[in-house]
Amino acid sequence: MIIGIDIGGTTTDIVGLNNGQILNPVSVKADDPITSAAGALGKFVEMVDLPLSEIEIIAATGVGSMQIKDHLLGIPIKKIDEFDSIGTAGAYLSGLDEAMVISMGTGTALVHVNNGGIKHWGGSGVGGGTMVGLSRKLLNITTIRTLMDKASKGRLGMIDLTVGDIAGGGLIDLPESATASNFGKVSDEATDSDIALAIINLVGQTIAILGISAARAERVNDIVLTGKLSIIPLIRKVVDGVGALYKVNFIVPGYAEFATAIGAAIKAQA
Ligand SMILES: Nc1ncnc2c1ncn2[C@@H]1O[C@H](COP(=O)(O)OP(=O)(O)OP(=O)(O)O)[C@@H](O)[C@H]1O
Ligand SMILES: [Mg+2]
Repeated sequence: MIIGIDIGGTTTDIVGLNNGQILNPVSVKADDPITSAAGALGKFVEMVDLPLSEIEIIAATGVGSMQIKDHLLGIPIKKIDEFDSIGTAGAYLSGLDEAMVISMGTGTALVHVNNGGIKHWGGSGVGGGTMVGLSRKLLNITTIRTLMDKASKGRLGMIDLTVGDIAGGGLIDLPESATASNFGKVSDEATDSDIALAIINLVGQTIAILGISAARAERVNDIVLTGKLSIIPLIRKVVDGVGALYKVNFIVPGYAEFATAIGAAIKAQA
């Protein structure tokens, strides 16, 4: 069995890979890299009831993997480049040969995969960390769940400026509902719910537009979303809204939230 472990900016994910089968993906909070890696491994072997001796190798990736030595609890570590992991997983989980893969984590990374070729295309600091940080300072909200609960009753019209607001209607290729400026029309009457939704909208729209721009530049048709943000329903809704406007289909494959750890394990096996 090969273990894939992604020590990210917020969470550490771990997954088993046994003869091509994905086994028991789990997440722990990323404290310091070594503690969270050891903790994730402990949790994993406890859950699957597996002796450590059954693990051949640990494939480690993510920002925290730099700080891990060459063994963890006696098991050899193979370090795998994070962008290779993202690209490998995006293609494997979606079954596509070519795609723009977006890792929607604490930050955002874009990886272009093309028939096994993997290229780090670019990225953005606007991501899940932005959503959490703005929510904490603007709303005193510290959990994703509370943020989503609040946002479910939010009204974007109290915060965001639309094309219709400035143009008085739609433009040739933009409907009046398209965003002209995120937070460009903050009303004094805006509630916490309105702000919560606007934060999610800002982050989701920025990532979606970046992905579409990258895909267009590379003439790629499919955009695959991975990372923990990709499975949040309200983020999906925002991203799909941008997709509808630009006639682009975003794909969220199974296990998207564990993709980077899975990609590392696949890469280590190859
Ligand atoms: N259960 C959760 N725990 C932590 N963060 C969550 C959770 N659900 C959603 N999120 C959001 O997902 C983000 C973290 O995503 P993910 O775990 O994919 O990133 P990461 O691997 O830690 O970071 P990066 O890949 O950028 O280094 C958080 O910033 C938060 O906005
Ligand atoms: Mg990650």
